[in-house]
Amino acid sequence: MTAQAHEENGTGSDYAATHLNGHYSEAEAEQPMLDKVQPPCYAQIIGWGYEVPDRVVTNHDLEQVVDTQDEWIRTRTGIQERRVVAVSEETTASLGTQAARKALEVADLHPARVDLVICATSSPEHFFPATASIIQDNLGLINAGAFDLSAACSGFVYALSVARAQILAGDAEYVLVVGSETLSRWVDWTDRTTCVLFGDGAGAVLLAASDVPGGVTASVLGSDGSGAELLTIPAGGSAAPASLETVSSGSHYIQMDGRAVFRFATRIMADATRQVLDKAGVPVSEVDLVVPHQANKRIIQHSVLRQLKIPEDKVYVNVHKYGNTSTASIPIALCEAIEEGKVAPGDNLVFVGFGAGLTWGACAVKWSVPIEQPESTWWKNTQRQATYQAAAARSMWKRAIRRIYSQVEPRAMARRPVRRPEEEQPTP
Ligand code: UT7
Repeated sequence: MTAQAHEENGTGSDYAATHLNGHYSEAEAEQPMLDKVQPPCYAQIIGWGYEVPDRVVTNHDLEQVVDTQDEWIRTRTGIQERRVVAVSEETTASLGTQAARKALEVADLHPARVDLVICATSSPEHFFPATASIIQDNLGLINAGAFDLSAACSGFVYALSVARAQILAGDAEYVLVVGSETLSRWVDWTDRTTCVLFGDGAGAVLLAASDVPGGVTASVLGSDGSGAELLTIPAGGSAAPASLETVSSGSHYIQMDGRAVFRFATRIMADATRQVLDKAGVPVSEVDLVVPHQANKRIIQHSVLRQLKIPEDKVYVNVHKYGNTSTASIPIALCEAIEEGKVAPGDNLVFVGFGAGLTWGACAVKWSVPIEQPESTWWKNTQRQATYQAAAARSMWKRAIRRIYSQVEPRAMARRPVRRPEEEQPTP
C-alpha cells in the first residue's frame, strides 16, 4: 500500500501523510495523542489478518466420532470442514496474536503506536487475565490498554463499534480489534447437535483515526437476555461454579436449542442489516458486500438473501471451510473476501452477526483504503522480527525481575523492625 496508490484512489494526501507513511516510527509514538487526533474524525480499517489452525476436520472425520452423516451436515448447515486446534500451544491468545500481527503488518504500523486492543471471545485463555492482555504482551503493544469483550458470536461487531467510538471520541488513534476462538475446547465431542457446527480461528482488523470520510460509519447493537438459556455453557461461572457434579454432568460444554436460535437468527440478521443501512444512509440496493456471521448457510440464505433480496454474489460465505468460528467468523470472512478481490475502495460493506445472549449487531463500512499490501522488503521484515523479539525479551525480563522481587521482598519484610503497641498511630 503506497501513498501514491492511495492518492490514485482519491482518499487524499492528508490521509497518506497521516496513515500511510512512517507508521513504523517509534519516535512518533511518543507524541501526545491529542496533538494527533483532530475532528472531524473517521474510523478507517487500515489493517486486517486472520489465522486458522492447520488441522482440518472434515464431516467424514466426524462420522467416525458421532452418529452423523456428511450429507446431513452439508444440507442443514453448508459446512464441509472446520479447523481445530491440535496442540496445547495453540490457544485463543496464540491465534489472536498471529491474526493481529498480520493486521499490523498490512497497515505497516509499529506496535508501540497502538492505543487499545479489544479481544472479542467466548473461549478466552482464562477467566482473567484478559486474552487481550496476553496479545498485548505478545506483540509488544507497550502503549495499549487491553480488554476482552463478551457478546458471543456478535462479539466482533460489538468490539468494532466500541473501537469506532473510542476513535471518534478522540480517546484512541489506533485500535486493534481481534475476534479469536477455540470453541473446540468447549464442545462436547459426543453431542452431534453441536460438535459438527463449531471451528477454531481468529481474525483481526486495525482501526485508525483518519480525516478521510468513510470507514465504520454506523453501528447497531442489540440484546434479548430472555433467550439466555437457548445457547449457553451452563457451568463454570458464578451461577454454577466448577464442581465434580458440574464436570460429570457435562455442564461445562456448549448447550444449544438449535431450532430456536435458527428462528431468531433469520429474523434478526435481516432487521439489523436494514437498521444499520438506515443509520448510514445507504439504500440496500447500494450494498456491495455483506459479510455475515458464518453460522449456517441456510440462515444467511433465509435472512440476507431472501428477506433483503441482496443477490448471492454480494454476500460472502466461507462457512463450508471453517464452520462456525463465532467472533472470528466475520473478520476471517472479511480477510478472505479481500484476498479474493471482492472489496475495493468506495464499496459499501455490512458486517452483521448474532449469537448467545441473545445478542446481535451490525456495522456499516464505507471502504476507503487501497487493498494492495505494502511491499515487504528484507529490511522491513528484519525490523519487524527485531521488534517482536524485543517484545518477547522485554516480557521475559519483566517476569524475571518480578521473580527476583518475590524472593527478596519477603526477606526484607521479615527484617523490618516490629513496632511496639504504644508506637502505633491511633486509627481515626
Ligand atoms: O453462532 C450461533 C450459533 N448457533 C447457530 O447458529 C445454530 C442455529 N441453528 C441451526 O443452525 C440449526 O438449527 C441446526 C444446524 C443446529 C440444526 O438444524 P435443523 O434443521 O434445525 O435440525 P433439527 O435440530 O430440527 O434436527 C432435525 C433432526 C433431528 O432428528 P429428529 O428429532 O427429527 O429425529 C436431530 O436429532 O436431525 C437430527 N440431528 C442430526 N442428524 C445427523 C441433529 N444433529 C444431527 C447431526 N447429524 N449432526
